Amino acid sequence: MKTVKDTKENIAAYVAKAVCDFVADKPDASIAFAAGETFEDIFPLIADCKDADFSAVNAFNICEYEKLGADDEKSCAYELNAKLYSKLNIKKVHTPDFDAPESYDEEIKACGGLDLLVLGIGLNGHIGFNEPATLYDTLTHTQQLTDSTKKMKAEHFGGVENVPDFGVTMGLKTICSAKNVILVAFGEEKADIIHKLVYGKTSTYVPAAMLQMHMNMTLCLDNEAASKL
Ligand code: GLP
Repeated sequence: MKTVKDTKENIAAYVAKAVCDFVADKPDASIAFAAGETFEDIFPLIADCKDADFSAVNAFNICEYEKLGADDEKSCAYELNAKLYSKLNIKKVHTPDFDAPESYDEEIKACGGLDLLVLGIGLNGHIGFNEPATLYDTLTHTQQLTDSTKKMKAEHFGGVENVPDFGVTMGLKTICSAKNVILVAFGEEKADIIHKLVYGKTSTYVPAAMLQMHMNMTLCLDNEAASKL
């Protein structure tokens, strides 16, 4: 695992350049993106990329909330489309289907597998919506959200009671099958879980720790998230 740490601003620029360079090198890449606060400063920088043409990219949304369509402002699909895909002329967008999750892995396979996956991390170590105790060999599946995740997303939904109970997400096997993974974390509140990701046992209770075994994994941290390493 390669770790890059710097100020939040420099890491945002680093991640944006990495994505941009990747597409310049492979214009028809299959890339999976997570939505979330972590990417607030990163998406506009990627959207500004002048050195690559993203129009042939296959974009895969890593996860989605139960029953939220792409036209619902709270959905991951809406956020990714508004902040990223629409700005980069990405038309080939794929979203996991809550009612037929298993078909997503076939869809990914049909596009040649994931070349790059850009991830955030939850405070309890979830990646996508793979909550603690998710098995390592899971493909795309529906997932009940934990209280920790619902609390994290309360502001986005205007109250914890409005956060959906379930999500659909690429599984841990889907995520770890990506050829390259970038995981981004910002802020002191993520320092503990980043320590567990890097040094903890690869236990199903810290789903992100499975990425210790990934051969092309880059961990991109601001100095606060890296403060316990
Ligand atoms: C969520 C999402 C992830 C996201 C993570 C971190 O629950 N399912 O895709 O990466 O939490 O979110 P944030 O970036 O808002 O801290």
